[in-house]
Amino acid sequence: MYNEIDLDKIDMNAEPPAEEPARQYYFMAKCREWVQEFERIHGGGPTACIQTFGCQMNAKDSEKLAGILVAVGFDETNSEDADFVLYNTCTVRENANQRVYGRLGQLGVIKKKRPDMIIALCGCMMQEKEVVDKIKASYRFVDLIFGTHNIFQLPELLCRCLMRENPKKLVAEIWDGTDKIVESLPAERKYAFKSGVNIMFGCNNFCSYCIVPYVRGRERSRNPKEIIREIEMLVADGVVEVMLLGQNVNSYGKTLTNPISFAQLLQLAEQVEGLERIRFMTSHPKDLSDELIEVMKRSKKICPHLHLPLQSGSSRILKQMNRNYTKEQYLELAAKIKNAIPEISLTTDIIVGFPGETEEDFQETMEVVEKVGFDSAFTFVYSIRTGTPAAVMDNQVPEDVVKERFDRLLKQVQTTSAKVSGRQVHTVQKVLVEEVNSHDSRLLTGRLENNTVVHFPGEPQLIGTITQVFLDEFKGFYYMGTIVQDREER
Ligand code: SAH
Ligand code: SF4
Ligand code: F3S
Repeated sequence: MYNEIDLDKIDMNAEPPAEEPARQYYFMAKCREWVQEFERIHGGGPTACIQTFGCQMNAKDSEKLAGILVAVGFDETNSEDADFVLYNTCTVRENANQRVYGRLGQLGVIKKKRPDMIIALCGCMMQEKEVVDKIKASYRFVDLIFGTHNIFQLPELLCRCLMRENPKKLVAEIWDGTDKIVESLPAERKYAFKSGVNIMFGCNNFCSYCIVPYVRGRERSRNPKEIIREIEMLVADGVVEVMLLGQNVNSYGKTLTNPISFAQLLQLAEQVEGLERIRFMTSHPKDLSDELIEVMKRSKKICPHLHLPLQSGSSRILKQMNRNYTKEQYLELAAKIKNAIPEISLTTDIIVGFPGETEEDFQETMEVVEKVGFDSAFTFVYSIRTGTPAAVMDNQVPEDVVKERFDRLLKQVQTTSAKVSGRQVHTVQKVLVEEVNSHDSRLLTGRLENNTVVHFPGEPQLIGTITQVFLDEFKGFYYMGTIVQDREER
């Protein structure tokens, strides 16, 4: 966590320290000198715009990047017509890359008009050599590139970029991997009342379709003391809900000098006074323990929601995917969880068209969706990721077959989730009020403990509080409700 180090106290005439995070504080102070000079010339501070693609990990990384930029004096903006624009990229599927290239093209047009602006790229795409080569060849207006392992180096790299003699020279620093976890840098939270908390980085599972282990590196768990300290500081700062983040939270703690289980970490987090809700993402079915189910069942703070990616309902395909569970084991696990925690909401991820998927395999996926009754499911068309084992499997499924299966699965998901996910209608539930509804400013939007969205009339002062709401109507994937107090007053 940020220790509020006073940048004024740093001796700028000394050599930069070698150790972290002191080294980055030194460069933050240097960047701030540049910002002050900018203010003298332009009569106002420089602006910075961060665009985040991809998952919760990237969202959390972007908060850290924003924290650094704000600490050195940049004003955050949503407009890409800014002095510093940073894209935090994702490469999990090919369309994620295409989106970034499309947006980058438009950014090039803005930069033609404003040659002084700085354009930076970071995140998962930058860990791929072909991507970096393409940017160097075809997007030469990019100023700065860094990867997933060294985001903490933003102050140093930005400083290098600001001070470079040739403004056309790209600054690039990408590491292949790291065993380092740098703590105690600032972060700028998107929401005042809820926050993601990294508990681990990287992934060791190597599912055969997935690029994440290659771009995020080997699994590393954060020290539990650091995690709890961060949660305590967040709560002291007004946070009531935390989301513990990892690619496979169920294997948390295995690499620590004093190993502890994820369920034990949850129990430590629960003891933080003032913290109301604990969520986590993502759970790999192969590692979900009975201990975790038991801890969730007993807990008043851990939200009854599990995101449990299925990927496929065919044991044959699951084996090819290197998922390490069978269809039967998944069904058994889902039933065990539902038995222990009847109010639980189960959500999932499913890939359609993995190499070699037959109609029979696909039917098994449809069957599992029907049997489990997910509250919702993210469905994806299989996307070839260069460098993964599945990319070179020779039985890729034709596009039209995948498309047709995808449409059928989507219908199946919608039908089954409509059956189960409205089950709390006409009950009173606790809602964390998150924002004013973007379509109708008379309404507020919040989330139930099981993560379902609810809209209801109310005043913006309620944002960040937990309020009792009666669920009047279920509308497919969200509820319309009324605050209990307002209902009683009617
Ligand atoms: N660590 C998480 C998921 C990370 S990626 C887990 O294990 O569940 C998020 C989702 O993207 C995955 O669950 C998977 O469904 C999907 N995905 C990953 N690689 C993909 C690919 N090559 N093609 C299509 N979908 C993919
Ligand atoms: Fe990818 Fe599998 Fe790791 Fe999830 S567990 S990030 S799907 S390799
Ligand atoms: Fe994308 Fe990287 Fe997350 S590839 S899904 S942003 S870990």
